[in-house]
Amino acid sequence: MASSGSRTSVSVRVSFASLCFAFCIAPCAGLATAQAAAAAAPPAAAQKVLIDSDPGTDDALAILLAIYSPELDVKGISIVAGNVTAEMGFDDALRVLSLVNRCDIPVARGAEKPLLQPLVTGTYWNGANGLGGAETPPSKCQGDRRFGPDLIIDLVHQYPNEITIIPIGPLTNVALAVRKDPSIVPLVKGVVLMGGSISGGNVNGAAEYNIYQDPEAASIVFNAGWPVTMVGLDVTEKAAILPADADKLDQSGGPIAHFAATVARYQIKLGEASGGGAVHDALAVGAVIDPTLLQTKFLRVDVETGGEFARGETVANRFGTVEKNVPAGDHRDTVGLTKTQPNVHVGVGVDSRRFIDMLVGRLSGK
Ligand code: BDR
Ligand code: CA
Repeated sequence: MASSGSRTSVSVRVSFASLCFAFCIAPCAGLATAQAAAAAAPPAAAQKVLIDSDPGTDDALAILLAIYSPELDVKGISIVAGNVTAEMGFDDALRVLSLVNRCDIPVARGAEKPLLQPLVTGTYWNGANGLGGAETPPSKCQGDRRFGPDLIIDLVHQYPNEITIIPIGPLTNVALAVRKDPSIVPLVKGVVLMGGSISGGNVNGAAEYNIYQDPEAASIVFNAGWPVTMVGLDVTEKAAILPADADKLDQSGGPIAHFAATVARYQIKLGEASGGGAVHDALAVGAVIDPTLLQTKFLRVDVETGGEFARGETVANRFGTVEKNVPAGDHRDTVGLTKTQPNVHVGVGVDSRRFIDMLVGRLSGK
């Protein structure tokens, strides 16, 4: 992915040996029980969510936040090509789940490229391994055999009106699921996605990466008719993780916290958020855990699927109207305004520090 702000390529590494100690040796020293308890299955009242992801540095933090939040019950993860190939994203997701002993969560590999255009991966933004250089032991989890969009369809039918979909990558999988089985739309509780912007892009002047990567898919998702909340750059770039937060994670002890600190430092070096690192995708998860973190406006948002400079832009209508123009001789004349139908709850404000404290607090000591 790409973003505004200063950009510096870095290579940060969690030593493989330290993780190996934590996951291969420390259990023998009696730490295994504590780890398993920390990542235990969520309470019955928890909100059921499906995360659609392209892991991805901030994707990994988002997945960890969801897993360590008792308010959420992660029913599945579908993988889409984006930051990295679908193959690497699948492997990264399994490694993350393996780290937290949650092999019970199904992970399904999905679309390998956008609906109409070639894939653009983001080594610069995520490191060669997609996890900001943080090395992890090979996963002990097995992937689900279903195609990612089919996992989405199955889970929505299994839990009608209960699943919140949290897409944190390009929207290809979610669009394919809707296209294959439109009956899922009224059965989904809501879609809370990281993507878009109404104040400029990070790939270029207009477009945010997840929408830029597959504008046709985004248009399908935005217009499907289900409740959509857009956690875009307007808010994610304001929610900066700071060096002191990474230090706090490290000092808290525990391999997950150390992994998160390493990823956070990678984001900080990229300088995507003013004064710190943007952890975009984690904010979408945060907004499901606690919707009061965001201030939203219900607006008409259309995805630009043409254009020379603005393909992939999410175009919001501030006034909720478009001019009504009618033929008038040799030209057209504006005779009034036509109301537009709002379709997206757009994040326009964020309680940034409260969110970062939530993220750091929940991963500390893990
Ligand atoms: C989005 O693009 C991806 O690279 C990140 O993971 C995030 O989902 C930010 O524009
Ligand atoms: Ca992502």
